[in-house]
Amino acid sequence: MSENNTIENNPQKFGEWWKNGVIYQIFPRTFADANGDGSGDLQGIIQKLDYLNDGNIDSEESLHIDAIWLSPINKSPMYDNGYDISDYCQIDPVFGNIDDFETLIAEAHQRNIKVILDLVINHTSNKHPWFEESCGEKDNPKSDWYHWRNPNSEDDVPNNWLSYFGGTAWTYCETRQQYYHHTFDKRQPDLNWRNPEVKEAIYQMIRFWLDKGVDGFRLDASSVYSKDKDYRDNPLKAEVEDKEDFSSQHHLYDKDLPENHQIIKEIRAIIDEYDDRLLIGETFISSGLYESVMFRGVNNDELHLPFTFDFPFSPWYPGHLQKEIAKKELMTPDDAWSVYFLDNHDLSRHLSRWVDCSLCDNSVGIAKAAATILLTVKGTPVLYYGQEIGMVDHNNIPSHKLRDRATIAHEGESASRDKVRTPMQWDNSNHGGFSFGKDVEPWLPVNDNYQEVNVAAEFKDEGSILNFYQALIRVRKKSHVLQKGCWRTLIHYPYEHLAYVRETESDRVLVVINFSHEKELQVDEYIDWENWQVLLSTDYPTDLVMDLPKILKPFETSIYQKR
Ligand code: GLC
Repeated sequence: MSENNTIENNPQKFGEWWKNGVIYQIFPRTFADANGDGSGDLQGIIQKLDYLNDGNIDSEESLHIDAIWLSPINKSPMYDNGYDISDYCQIDPVFGNIDDFETLIAEAHQRNIKVILDLVINHTSNKHPWFEESCGEKDNPKSDWYHWRNPNSEDDVPNNWLSYFGGTAWTYCETRQQYYHHTFDKRQPDLNWRNPEVKEAIYQMIRFWLDKGVDGFRLDASSVYSKDKDYRDNPLKAEVEDKEDFSSQHHLYDKDLPENHQIIKEIRAIIDEYDDRLLIGETFISSGLYESVMFRGVNNDELHLPFTFDFPFSPWYPGHLQKEIAKKELMTPDDAWSVYFLDNHDLSRHLSRWVDCSLCDNSVGIAKAAATILLTVKGTPVLYYGQEIGMVDHNNIPSHKLRDRATIAHEGESASRDKVRTPMQWDNSNHGGFSFGKDVEPWLPVNDNYQEVNVAAEFKDEGSILNFYQALIRVRKKSHVLQKGCWRTLIHYPYEHLAYVRETESDRVLVVINFSHEKELQVDEYIDWENWQVLLSTDYPTDLVMDLPKILKPFETSIYQKR
């Protein structure tokens, strides 16, 4: 990238909608079912666009998010529910067809909603024609499109690399009499990114979607594209208990290689040929914050937003959460940007995770406090569908209805991610209104609590989690300082509450959160006390101008603007 071609020198070209915007992740199979077959589809999403953003910031029945990220919608045998693609340029018939997709783009753009696609390019499905061809004779045209190796001298796997799911990452293929590599399941063979033809095919496909008008991508498993060209063994960590476990090795040779960064750079360069597109990446696979943020690139020429998992993995304690925020701040120079999320399609939902460690069952209180942090720290917030109404894990899905074959095969039913992928709860009609009033059984059963926890009921309830999210998003959108201002904590060692400010030269916003659900909290005078205006609070009316209270009420969450 030339010196002039940076965000600071050329903000117009790069745009920065994603710095101000709120992203909303949709798991398409369970968001909304328009054709009444029990599976969510693109038409379902189209019909719910007004709920996501109807274009009028003051309207009461819309969440006002800025972008949707769709978990994969490409053709797939669905062994890993879309994260195993068999045709990159087709829409899976479960979701609709390319016309539906074009309508989705047009309708979304009309409402100022950007559309981000999941890009699963570390591996394909084993049913992808590329892999089927590659499995043929050794001299077939796609022979080198995947990682093929001969058995070692003991007629065993080529090296000690492990699958993320555990056990060897190599599977033997009788036709080729060779092993192929897979970071995930054996039905998800890894592409050989050293092969220029592979790169070219993937880059062409990326352009295909960009030309259709998609506004960006979330790169799946983006730290494991490249593999050591000599396929050397990874060193073992000291005193490992389970040598089959992915975390038992130092992943020197199958992860985070310099070539991996080169690939991301090349993808970013393609993205940058188009206006205003966004590149997010899932960089976490056994990586910490440091490895993740390195994926921004030395010259900010790789990912705009590397997804790091330290924040959602933190326990629900003020000190721990603040540590994660502060770490991100330290590792985010002025020319870079952070991203925050609480939930996604792989993790237990935060209310289920955090209610357990909060020693209370006030999930509404926790949800509002968590939402406040997510939407008032410095970085782009990403919501996962249903989080805004307080959806929790569905822990009673009968075995025969589970769908997450990839995880269940390796880690058992208890590890299934189905519990966080259940149908969106729209209203209190059968199955939560998932199939628009039709009484069909959804692909996964709706959570038992849908009668109380649903969009329609919560819009009517002033104190609901949904109305709080809506108000928070509105406050954030109307506040330059909440979008761009610096973050600074007012308490170095938070124990029972958080207090931090966002500030610019001219403005200051204060956020205070009492983590105790039963105790009032006397607070020290850590900031000029007089004359603050309530932007949003669980305990004070919006717009009230007041001196800061010296006592925080149980579970109080308040955002003030200095007058
Ligand atoms: C990513 C996805 C996960 C999937 C895996 C394999 O981690 O988030 O859902 O199973 O990649 O593609």
